Amino acid sequence: MLLKHRFFFVRLLPASFLAPAFMLACTQTPIAESDAALMAQRRIGSTPDSAGYQRKAPQDPNGIGKYYMGRQIAHVMGHEASGWLERPDRQQEEGTDILLRALKLKPTDVVADLGAGTGYFSFRMSSLVPKGKVLAVDIQPEMLDKLRATSTKLHVTNVEPVLGTVRNPNLPANSLDLVLIVDAYHEFDHPREMMRAVRNSLKPGGRLALVEYRAEDPKLTIKRIHRMSEEQARREMEAVGLKFVQNDKSLPQQHLLIFQRQ
Ligand SMILES: C[S@@+](CC[C@H](N)C(=O)[O-])C[C@H]1O[C@@H](n2cnc3c(N)ncnc32)[C@H](O)[C@@H]1O
Repeated sequence: MLLKHRFFFVRLLPASFLAPAFMLACTQTPIAESDAALMAQRRIGSTPDSAGYQRKAPQDPNGIGKYYMGRQIAHVMGHEASGWLERPDRQQEEGTDILLRALKLKPTDVVADLGAGTGYFSFRMSSLVPKGKVLAVDIQPEMLDKLRATSTKLHVTNVEPVLGTVRNPNLPANSLDLVLIVDAYHEFDHPREMMRAVRNSLKPGGRLALVEYRAEDPKLTIKRIHRMSEEQARREMEAVGLKFVQNDKSLPQQHLLIFQRQ
């Protein structure tokens, strides 16, 4: 349920953006979310289910009250805030060029940008794989509309929008060289199902590049729930059979964790 993702703005936008009307719009509670919260409360204290999920009261209001391997899952960033993804200082702040170089893409690679948002990385990768393509997956149709508009504007023909679900990215099996997930995994509602599907979508030897703000860095101001530790990420990826290869430490604020399908 995407309307629930109202807390995102507090994390990402500078105070000057938080106009009262905007805040009001972002704090309305849709009925479906109230139901979900009620159901979650009834199951407080339950032990993890067979997939490893547990329901507990949110320790942090930016979370959905669902925990995976001890980590609370965050609310999804609503498409209304998508301007933040294209902010002019992002390249400098996150070292996005460094990240793109570190991916070492080959011109023929077929890659997925999972949780693509507006396609910030999809379009930057598209020129690096001129004989391949980028499958840009998101669960919000509005994000895919933005992607299509950018493809038309830039005359890009090798970025394919893919509508995923919270359990399934709808990627083809055994066919991808790389799956890139930037600042999205901590929002995945069903991380185990999603990552199993990611694993199955990779060619043998294909790589997953997981980029998340570093939980271990005390200097970062970003909320804890929107960050991940290397240890937690490794545990979660290894649970679906993805082998840890490397933590590339070249980004200023984020982990760039490389995993591989054996
Ligand atoms: C914070 S944005 C990051 C977008 C993009 N990766 C970037 O760095 O510019 C997270 C995106 O992940 C998407 N998302 C969340 N859960 C998802 C899921 N299960 N499958 C696909 N996309 C998902 C959201 O809709 C949102 O567009």
